[in-house]
Amino acid sequence: MSKMVLELTIEEKKMLKGKQGKATRKAMEIVVALGEIYGAKRLIPVSSVQIAGVSYDNLGEAGLEYLNEMAEDGQTRVLTTLNPAGMDMVEWKKHGISEDFAENQQRVVDAFEKMGVVTTCTCTPYLMGNLPHYGEHIAWAESSAVCFANSVIGAYTNREGGPSALAAALTGVTAEYGFHLDENRVAQVKYDVLADLMSTDEFGLLGQIIGNRTGKQIPYITGIGNATTDELKSFCASVATYGGIAIFHMEKVTPNRTPIPEKTEIVTEEDLNKARAELDDKEANIDFISVGCPHASIKEIAKIVDMLKGKKVTEGKTVWITTAKPTKDLAIKMGYYDQIEKAGAYLVADACCAVAPLKGRFTGLMTDSAKACYYARGKNKFKTEIRTVEECIKEAVS
Ligand code: F3S
Repeated sequence: MSKMVLELTIEEKKMLKGKQGKATRKAMEIVVALGEIYGAKRLIPVSSVQIAGVSYDNLGEAGLEYLNEMAEDGQTRVLTTLNPAGMDMVEWKKHGISEDFAENQQRVVDAFEKMGVVTTCTCTPYLMGNLPHYGEHIAWAESSAVCFANSVIGAYTNREGGPSALAAALTGVTAEYGFHLDENRVAQVKYDVLADLMSTDEFGLLGQIIGNRTGKQIPYITGIGNATTDELKSFCASVATYGGIAIFHMEKVTPNRTPIPEKTEIVTEEDLNKARAELDDKEANIDFISVGCPHASIKEIAKIVDMLKGKKVTEGKTVWITTAKPTKDLAIKMGYYDQIEKAGAYLVADACCAVAPLKGRFTGLMTDSAKACYYARGKNKFKTEIRTVEECIKEAVS
């Protein structure tokens, strides 16, 4: 695309010339470069940003150096929150995180804080006050949250990378291309779901099936009468992981209007069983149970507390319920935290089983999340089993 296509406002040109400081200039260079690559005609303001690539495990020293450089004079211009870090920023020690890692992870969060980022580390920013409304343009990076924002909320965002999300935060703008344009949000293939989905694990399996089948085509899903927010966040995480899907339409559930595609695929109960079998390793020796991927809502935590009542986690098993820090604080206030910890499980804030440095610590993961299975196998080389939350807790205490 020609460089001439992208028109900048006077203010944007000033940022590009470095009039607002070095970090803003670098950030604007990223935004402009993306705009030129994708043929955007202009930059548009964003009302919120969510940054991924926060765990020191993924970022490393080079990533941290870049952040520190940007933090020298960079300041966010819009509400900006973070994706999960590699540990609970307060209780990391009791979760078996090393001093070294904790120190480095703290340096990462400090760099973000210096730039004015709200350092809530969660993949469900929409549950924590970073909640756009229908039609609002935003720049988010976490794939499950991007999918939720575009599809369930009807906001407009591309799937940003770590640096491009930070660039949007420091400039307050993003290039208008991709999912910021209505013509790129139209459904391309219809999926008739002929199975009854009852729980988060089944919504995750549906995401796995559609993600694997659809390529990059935008799905229009029918046959789901209704779905809870928790089920939708599970579906979003999975369809984004297995298919790189950033937007879908679900009849009677999501708000976007789109013509219904003719090309139709069927999803049956048998497909769900096959998908489950694919994530179940026969020889899995379950020593780690993790729920809360995406981060658990207070409603999910309350349910888990009920399941744990009067029970004790079996020796040799570790249980993580991962959530956002504000939700953990609420759980503390409600007495849920004490009940969870008394049962021998951990309520882990700010982190999750995919981005924490867990390689080598466990061999088999049981979870209700298809996305967690994907990363557990790929990144940590764990065997996996996917079950309902109830079954996960049962496994933990049996
Ligand atoms: Fe969130 Fe971690 Fe799952 S970032 S979606 S809890 S893999």
